[in-house]
Amino acid sequence: MSENNSGFNSYFGFLMAAIGSAIGFGNIWGFPYKMGTHGGFAFLICYLVLCVFVGFIIMFGELFLGRREQKGPVGTYMMVGKRNNKNFMFMGWLAMLSAVFLMGFYCTLGGYVFKYMIANLGSMFHASWGVNADAATYFTTFVTDQGQAVIWAILFVVVTALICIGGVSGGIENFCKIGMPLLFLILIIMIVKAALLPGSAAGFAFIFKPQWSALAGKSLITTLGSAGGQMFFSLSLGMGAMITYGSYLGKNNNLQKSSITIVFFDTLAAVMAACAVFPAVFAFGLEPAGGPGLLFVTMQNVFDSMGAVGPLFGFLFYLLTTIAGVSSSISLLEVATVSLQELTGKGELKDGWSRMKAILVSSAIILVLNVIVAADGLGGTGMPQPLGFCWLDFFDLFSEGLMMPFGALVMALIIGWITGKDAVLAEATLEGEKFPAINFYMFCTKIIAPIGMAFILLGQIDSFFSLGLFS
Ligand code: PFF
Repeated sequence: MSENNSGFNSYFGFLMAAIGSAIGFGNIWGFPYKMGTHGGFAFLICYLVLCVFVGFIIMFGELFLGRREQKGPVGTYMMVGKRNNKNFMFMGWLAMLSAVFLMGFYCTLGGYVFKYMIANLGSMFHASWGVNADAATYFTTFVTDQGQAVIWAILFVVVTALICIGGVSGGIENFCKIGMPLLFLILIIMIVKAALLPGSAAGFAFIFKPQWSALAGKSLITTLGSAGGQMFFSLSLGMGAMITYGSYLGKNNNLQKSSITIVFFDTLAAVMAACAVFPAVFAFGLEPAGGPGLLFVTMQNVFDSMGAVGPLFGFLFYLLTTIAGVSSSISLLEVATVSLQELTGKGELKDGWSRMKAILVSSAIILVLNVIVAADGLGGTGMPQPLGFCWLDFFDLFSEGLMMPFGALVMALIIGWITGKDAVLAEATLEGEKFPAINFYMFCTKIIAPIGMAFILLGQIDSFFSLGLFS
């Protein structure tokens, strides 16, 4: 490994960075709504089962591959191919392209969150740049104001790039070591505030009340599809983020415990986000929603209804969302950067472009994609739409819809059928650690996780093209 790229300084730093990659917008606007509308506690059970049989399996697989090869996705798959006389180069490309497509719209959303954080700060001081219209009007006016949306998106790309330029330990690790504990602290404050609002109980009921019908008959397929799509995206799987971070993980750290810890904290943050959001939404008699509508209209409505303390809680909430977004976007840029270095170095970081050049080139490409997405204003500015999708959904289709689930599916197959048990065991027990569940692991990575990922891939295609297969 070369310049700036010598890994994390501490195991705590690694954990915070990996948990930071996992906790993102998906946890805050995806999980709570899906849980509320797909069976409450019944959804949570499906989600946890999928985490054990698919999420943990792939998380461990990515960390294992990255740490064994000590390389990013391109170098790792080249090495895995070489060891087995095969060519897995396409997997490296897939990882890099999914990262770029995902970043192609993630930063636009990040720009929206920045804007809302600053606007709520403005409202605290009754400034003219505060939130100055009702939530729905404010949002539509902002996203369709192309100049503004583009500038905030560019700012988000620049912040992400600057942190990565700071280096793996100097930038990414330091940001996450402070950001993650702060994020959990703000989540606790938001939950307490929401729980104390009169009428919040209906929100807790919306999230947690088990609707067992969600597990009966055909509904089970819908529930599993929704939980599976949410799970692999939320855990940052299938595009080499955990391979890349795994390559910075010390050989003396336990791979099994690390995987479990990341899955645990990501799920905890998602459930906590649900407890912070929906009790407040119901307390003010608002309609539950998902996606950008939840984050930018419903939640802003909540803060507008809170009276004098509203802007303070609004600022805290969007700060928390900013931390979640940035800690994810830096992991995506890191994947793109390292992959580009390795591609130009024929699998070797040291022979390819410098880290700085790779960061600048990937950021420039990502910036261009985000200019398109931001200018499109979620399809509200009259720009031509590809295949009938708004540009955000179009890029999302490639990354979250197709490439990521496909990448995770193939990776599980490679570990199960090609890399094999002995190699997994050798890497996971380097320091004499026990791996009592190795047979369970191998069974899952050979059979259960690939079936699960194939099902999730189908579910993603179904939901993007509204085919109705799962409903
Ligand atoms: N896990 C992030 C979220 O929940 O928003 C999204 C993500 C980040 C996916 C990084 C993949 C990745 F590599």
